Amino acid sequence: KQRERQVLLDAYEFAARMYHFLLKNTEHGKQAMAYLKGRGFTDKLIDHFQIGYAPPQWDTLARQLDKREFSMPLMKQGGLLLSRDDGRYYDLFRDRIMFPIWDARGKVIAFGGRILGEGQPKYLNSSESSLFHKGRTLYNFHHVRPLLRKTRHLVLFEGYVDVIKAWDAGVSNGVASMGTSLTEENAFMMRKNADLITICYDGDDAGRNAAYKNMNLLEKAGCEVKVALIPDRMDPDEYIQAHGEERFLREIMNEAVPALKFKLIYLRRNHILIEETGRIKYIQEALKLLAVISSPMEREHYLKELAEEFNQSLDTLKQELNLIRQEQQ
Ligand code: UTP
Ligand code: MN
Ligand code: MN
Ligand code: MN
Ligand code: MN
Repeated sequence: KQRERQVLLDAYEFAARMYHFLLKNTEHGKQAMAYLKGRGFTDKLIDHFQIGYAPPQWDTLARQLDKREFSMPLMKQGGLLLSRDDGRYYDLFRDRIMFPIWDARGKVIAFGGRILGEGQPKYLNSSESSLFHKGRTLYNFHHVRPLLRKTRHLVLFEGYVDVIKAWDAGVSNGVASMGTSLTEENAFMMRKNADLITICYDGDDAGRNAAYKNMNLLEKAGCEVKVALIPDRMDPDEYIQAHGEERFLREIMNEAVPALKFKLIYLRRNHILIEETGRIKYIQEALKLLAVISSPMEREHYLKELAEEFNQSLDTLKQELNLIRQEQQ
């Protein structure tokens, strides 16, 4: 078992090196390189994140692994190869940009493979194996971990590309979970290593919904959470491409709002604020969120905001709030 594990790790390590080499040194790699350059990936980023390219042939990796006497059934079991009915082995990843995924110690344990341009699936990810448990894996965590001892601050992105581009912009503590639904194991691991989590998901509906859901999970695990909001349905990478790194840091990362503020913003979507009844319902729901704030000063701050925006007297809102607090007890 221990030996099989080491063989698989060696195979993933070899595959990552091979894909990286093929991207940088082959004819086929050129179009992949052109795609990456077109998306703003520099050589520095490609090297630091060991990005690679899997060529279109069906057995590029299979042949190399076979030549090096890796056991083909083990490679299949480990999620690197597939097999046909006639017993021939072939590559899972073909004609894709390859993002190695590491464990916390920096060993390659899986890949995310992106199609060049449009097509389905956009990302093909390694299936779970004895090495790779999606719920326990955070992309880029091995780079970030040494920094956390001091800062205790993590930034959570949706995609590999977002982590990479934000890193280039100076966000050295960015990670991504495998898919948008964070697991309790992810949350526990994050809590162990950080006190503050800034969620910076895509600005579309899917991203906002996932941010809301994962924020609650992280708060339950005991983290302080902030949310960095990106306008115009863009994701971090698109925002950086459109407005530059400096603006991303200044207007997105530095403007991350406290969890409660995000909950209030999120709450708005469910209420029709141009109607009187919708406004009243929203105010009542908002007060329920404010009722759990323990600091009187903080509570007053949000109450004032609410009073001003909806033209209510602060006294009326305070009375409402007291009623809600009595109900909640
Ligand atoms: P997105 O659709 O937001 O992709 O999915 P992205 O990160 O912006 O990718 P680019 O910029 O188009 O290259 C966010 C994350 O969800 C997972 C991937 O981990 C991706 O980074 N995903 C998405 C998949 O696993 N499979 C898919 O087909 C799509
Ligand atoms: Mn490195
Ligand atoms: Mn998305
Ligand atoms: Mn995205
Ligand atoms: Mn993107």
